[in-house]
Amino acid sequence: MKKKTDKLLAILTAQPVIPVLKIDRLATAVPLARALAKGGLPAIEITLRTPDAIDAIRLVVDEVPEAIVGAGTILSPKDFSKAVEAGAKFIVSPGTTQGLLDAAQDSGVPFLPGAVTPSEIMAVRDEGYRVLKFFPAEQAGGAAFLKSLASPLADVSFCPTGGISPKNAADYLSLPNVICVGGSWVAPDAELAAGNWTAVEELARQAAGLRG
Ligand code: 3PG
Repeated sequence: MKKKTDKLLAILTAQPVIPVLKIDRLATAVPLARALAKGGLPAIEITLRTPDAIDAIRLVVDEVPEAIVGAGTILSPKDFSKAVEAGAKFIVSPGTTQGLLDAAQDSGVPFLPGAVTPSEIMAVRDEGYRVLKFFPAEQAGGAAFLKSLASPLADVSFCPTGGISPKNAADYLSLPNVICVGGSWVAPDAELAAGNWTAVEELARQAAGLRG
């Protein structure tokens, strides 16, 4: 577990923002990943929310060596193994199930499970996890909620996602228990549809410069 946690931490502490991506058109995956990496955000989360997601992961892994491709919205052990087979370097879920914990245990690929309440966090912590996703961050109580977990659950760190933007990212990044934030704002649908990769690169550059 320690080795996998270290692998995950190496990825998530290297940039303040992990782009959360929904790939509607496979053809956008490669130029999008290239633009984000060029802007300073090589680690990305491609979510399994579209039919092309697994192909997008495979394509970016094969064609964009500078990208560090994770798979998000992993809801079942089957999703987990499909994403790993496609080459995902880390696996993200909005929550935690026993099936996912078992799949993660059998895999060498690090897992970022989701948890929100103290009891959920403690249950995942009991499984050995010290780095968790906090989703949906804004709706669940935001930076103030996360801050209040830092003292009682001092050895657990979070990657909050959901409702985070350049406006509130610094509030999260300044917390001692936040290692990075996730968000989709660096890849707006309109820029993707227009193939405006320089705009995406610039958004990534601004996000990569965010600090708490
Ligand atoms: C996620 O899965 O992490 C979120 O859907 C990202 O949320 P956002 O679109 O509000 O950034």
